[in-house]
Amino acid sequence: MTVHFIGAGPGAPDLLTLRGRDLIAACPVCLYAGSLVPEGVLAHCPAGARIVNTAPLSLDEIIAEIAAAHADGKDVARLHSGDLSIWSAMGEQLRRLRALGIPYTVTPGVPSFSAAAAALEVELTLPGLAQTVVLTRTPGRASAMPEGEKLAAFAATGAVLAIHLSIHLLDKVVAELVPHYGADCPVAIVWRASWPDQRIVRATLARLDAAVGSEMERTALILVGKTLGSADFDESRLYAADYDRRYRPVGVEPRFPEAS
Ligand SMILES: C[S@@+](CC[C@H](N)C(=O)[O-])C[C@H]1O[C@@H](n2cnc3c(N)ncnc32)[C@H](O)[C@@H]1O
Repeated sequence: MTVHFIGAGPGAPDLLTLRGRDLIAACPVCLYAGSLVPEGVLAHCPAGARIVNTAPLSLDEIIAEIAAAHADGKDVARLHSGDLSIWSAMGEQLRRLRALGIPYTVTPGVPSFSAAAAALEVELTLPGLAQTVVLTRTPGRASAMPEGEKLAAFAATGAVLAIHLSIHLLDKVVAELVPHYGADCPVAIVWRASWPDQRIVRATLARLDAAVGSEMERTALILVGKTLGSADFDESRLYAADYDRRYRPVGVEPRFPEAS
């Protein structure tokens, strides 16, 4: 018996890996994390599968579900939205399973920041503008931020920020960002990226408030940084006609002559 942790993707059911789909189809038990895992993903569960929404359950109750499946020798598909490596609460479950000697695997998923960038049709890292993306959040009721991980500290680097779990604090977020990025810096909000009711707002930090209106409740990602709105960036050297590299030797004395 094995528990398969599977990143269920940002929303669209076809943004699930083939491995994830096949594991879901092979597991007689499926535990899924609430409203962010779409019905279309659950449709891969085999007929008669035990399907449990874990949103109202405590960690103890979730582990009890897994332990019961373990006792019955039934594999479990454990679904969390997006990818499992960020804000999935997988870490604490793995620790419990290790203590109980229950085997598990981990299958990645498409994270929401990737789905949001795709919806915006942008590359977040562009030569000369930004080469770092910070995946972060603001403090929540259940999660304090470690000292040193302040939004202002990340903003001071000028990196692109993908701010999760913070749409309800939009005014505060903007106020912290403006001193570092400037009021003209492009910002975008993507609500429910890849879902049928996806919504996008593009603005500058100064104009964001008016563009957003009162929509603060639904799941959303805030992206800020120069690469979101600029056509003024360098082309990458990798594809420059005069750039000598292993797969495309150039010049009279290429660095990798054996490849020519
Ligand atoms: C608990 S975290 C889960 C993150 C997830 N593990 C991931 O890989 O993106 C939930 C937050 O992720 C963001 N999020 C998740 N799905 C989203 C989507 N489809 N569109 C926009 N933001 C999303 C929102 O900021 C939301 O508050």
